Amino acid sequence: MKEIRLGLLGLGTVGGGTVNILNTTQTEIQRRLGGKVSIKVEQIAVRDLNRSRTADTTGIDLTTDPLAVVNNPNVDIVVELMGGTTLAKTCLEQAIQNKKHIVTANKALIAEHGNELFKAAEAQGVMVAYESAVAGGIPIIKALREGLAGNQIEWLAGIINGTGNYILTEMKKPGADFAKVLKTAQELGYAEADPTFDVEGIDAAHKLTIMASIAFGIELQFDKVYTEGISKVTAEDIQFAQNLGYEIKHLGIASRTDNGFSMRVHPTLVADSVLIANVNDVMNAVMVSGDHVGQTLYYGPGAGAGPTASAVVADIIDVIRALHQPKEDRVPALGFALSQLTSAPIVAIDDIQSAYYLRFYAKDHAGVLAKVSAVLAESQISIELLHQEPYVGNEDDATLVMITNKVLESDLNQAISALENMPEIDEKIMRIRVADFK
Ligand code: NDP
Ligand code: HSE
Repeated sequence: MKEIRLGLLGLGTVGGGTVNILNTTQTEIQRRLGGKVSIKVEQIAVRDLNRSRTADTTGIDLTTDPLAVVNNPNVDIVVELMGGTTLAKTCLEQAIQNKKHIVTANKALIAEHGNELFKAAEAQGVMVAYESAVAGGIPIIKALREGLAGNQIEWLAGIINGTGNYILTEMKKPGADFAKVLKTAQELGYAEADPTFDVEGIDAAHKLTIMASIAFGIELQFDKVYTEGISKVTAEDIQFAQNLGYEIKHLGIASRTDNGFSMRVHPTLVADSVLIANVNDVMNAVMVSGDHVGQTLYYGPGAGAGPTASAVVADIIDVIRALHQPKEDRVPALGFALSQLTSAPIVAIDDIQSAYYLRFYAKDHAGVLAKVSAVLAESQISIELLHQEPYVGNEDDATLVMITNKVLESDLNQAISALENMPEIDEKIMRIRVADFK
């Protein structure tokens, strides 16, 4: 039996989950590998050697030096589950130089530095596998890269941050407190080391960057993703949206347009008749539309130890299976050979077309609504749905909620500025884009 030796960087939520699967599922994994290969965890780097662990590490050498793992001649595959984009990058660059294959869950690193890392890996003939980096337990990388390879992908849209979806779901419950809900998500192992990555959409933007690159065969362009978080979405907005027949979801959307590719992450109203509107808690879901297959949907747990480690172990098995394949026969990291990637323009957010949910407080006086409609009409914006109710706590004010027709974002911005200048309108206008899934 041939032994393949792993060196892990990190033994936290995902690292612990990975060691647990390797400890408990060894026989099944060996069967999947044809009964000829066994996997051994040789060494693991952690920050604190004295921390209690969720996984049994008997017989495994623990070190506080990640580079020692990467430089360990007994390690065949480096499994990076540490996070971050500085030390993790140095470690993976060194691993590649040492001709070690890599499995990583680090979407930040792939989205921000994948172009260089994949190039270096190709030059050294090593694989970089990262299924667990996107949508936790859902094998979305494999689906996009291999399962849908017979298609030109037109668009994809997904709930790709488990923490954010968990928070939005909990906010539907009366009296939910944002800070407390986030704390629970952290305790459950869903959140990033810096949870603003989850709440402000940075984590989703990392994942969208990766999916868009595989879907369209374009270079990773994280800095071009328009990113808006969920921190400004209120329980009141969620309730108003539901009354109008929508759910608010934090979506990552990438699409092919006549003017280039669009990549954006923002809260979105999704009609409650659409399946993805009913994806709750930590679950993720990604819709992908291909020119031949039509619309497909992938659903599953998007974060946490078991689901993420499931994808890490699948990658380890894939890498072992491909070890003796000629490198030109291996599936390229992004599904397209690096030489085939294009750097097509990315559409600015101002140039997208969307319908919008608007919520604001205005004086409850005769003629105010007519004035609002006139301002919107100046920018060719019409009101498709309107709801008005008294503003609790100020009898002189009304809360206005509306859904507009589909308009150019720059036209909407102009209209919002004009509305916010009206003396009858209080505070800023809340605006949320409305999805248009046919
Ligand atoms: P954790 O914080 O739970 O674990 C990080 C691990 O890395 C810990 O074991 C920590 O050691 C170790 N570590 C961190 N810095 C160093 C260092 N300088 N030297 C040595 N060891 C170090 O993170 P997660 O497991 O949640 O996430 C790991 C990666 O997986 C991240 O890239 C994350 O984005 C990604 N990911 C996470 C998911 C999740 O659901 N949690 C899902 C998908 C991807 P110690 O334990 O001693 O502190
Ligand atoms: N923090 C991430 C999330 C982990 O909540 O989705 C999974 O990538």
